[in-house]
Amino acid sequence: MTDSITIRRPFDSHVHLRQGAMLRAVTPITAQKFFSAIVMPNTDPPIDTTEAAAAYKEEIMAAVPEGSTFEPLMTFYLTKNLSPAEIAKGFSGEASAKVYAVKSYPYGATTNSQWGYRSILEAKDVLREMERVGMPLMLHGEVHLNDHDEEEDPYEGERLFVEDTLPRLLDAFPRLKISLEHMSTAIAADFIEKNGAEGKLVATITPTHLLYDRRQAFSGGYRTLIHMKPLVKRREDRERVRALAQRGLPFVSAGSDSAPHPESKKFSSCVTFGVFCSPAALEMYTGVFDELGALDKLENFLSINGPRFYGIQPSEERITLIKKDWQVTEPVITSEGVKVWPIGHVQHGLGNEVIRWQVKR
Ligand code: NCD
Ligand code: ZN
Repeated sequence: MTDSITIRRPFDSHVHLRQGAMLRAVTPITAQKFFSAIVMPNTDPPIDTTEAAAAYKEEIMAAVPEGSTFEPLMTFYLTKNLSPAEIAKGFSGEASAKVYAVKSYPYGATTNSQWGYRSILEAKDVLREMERVGMPLMLHGEVHLNDHDEEEDPYEGERLFVEDTLPRLLDAFPRLKISLEHMSTAIAADFIEKNGAEGKLVATITPTHLLYDRRQAFSGGYRTLIHMKPLVKRREDRERVRALAQRGLPFVSAGSDSAPHPESKKFSSCVTFGVFCSPAALEMYTGVFDELGALDKLENFLSINGPRFYGIQPSEERITLIKKDWQVTEPVITSEGVKVWPIGHVQHGLGNEVIRWQVKR
């Protein structure tokens, strides 16, 4: 039995660090374990200029604990304001922050998605420029509205995207680098296994979609701590996504999608989408790979595939995880006294959740 594993310091290909007091509370948690991360741009207002990305990077850097070498990698939000000219400017790193990728949110589908296009296919000029300069597109791969502006069934959004939108996008922009974020369905896993290619078409997986399915989401009332987009799906979907991770393919990596929200918004009749997982994301991934008998694939998934896609060097530092049970017992509390509840929490999770691995200190 393996009870210890040492890997290069991991990389989070998808994290929300927010702004203000929330940012100051959650940034150190990511910085403590990950050497770098792709930071999502769905702030309010959204990050869609190089200057805004530089200012946002500065705000994050001010929250990184002293002595940490953590580097946040910035992204643009694909708003209607994002111009082709800004793509080349951001990607070349002018204004003191390089912008590594563009994130697309389907209008209305998730937290702060009100600035997105209805369909990614409407953003042709920006996509053409991204294809030209080699800047990756990160996809929130769900169809949210149909042609009559009616909401689709949220359990079907990813399937519709993968079956219809994604093939059209790949046809129209054959050289565009694409990452399908937070895969949640067997259909997406099948598509990526068949069509994925290093440096070209990649995908990320969250701990939430590896650990939970919709039965747990509805067990004993609706479990709002695991309420996110894409919604967790059927057990079979979760198993298929796990099987993809287990294969250790070079185009599949960890993107936690840690997305903190204040307690008042998570325990509300109008609950927000987003799972706060950074306090235990690394440990949860390790637990899943252990269960799958795939600990030998963990380092590529956590520490190598993500950096490679974004053109940066994997970390030379190492981190050791040991097999030892623990539980998330406290919420994170911001300087304004706002509680932020993590996934897996003993009180508000799904009951007696034990995390089997921990980082060796
Ligand atoms: C994210 C958030 O809260 O910002 N929520 C989520 O459910 N995943 C937005 C996103 O990544 O969709
Ligand atoms: Zn996200």
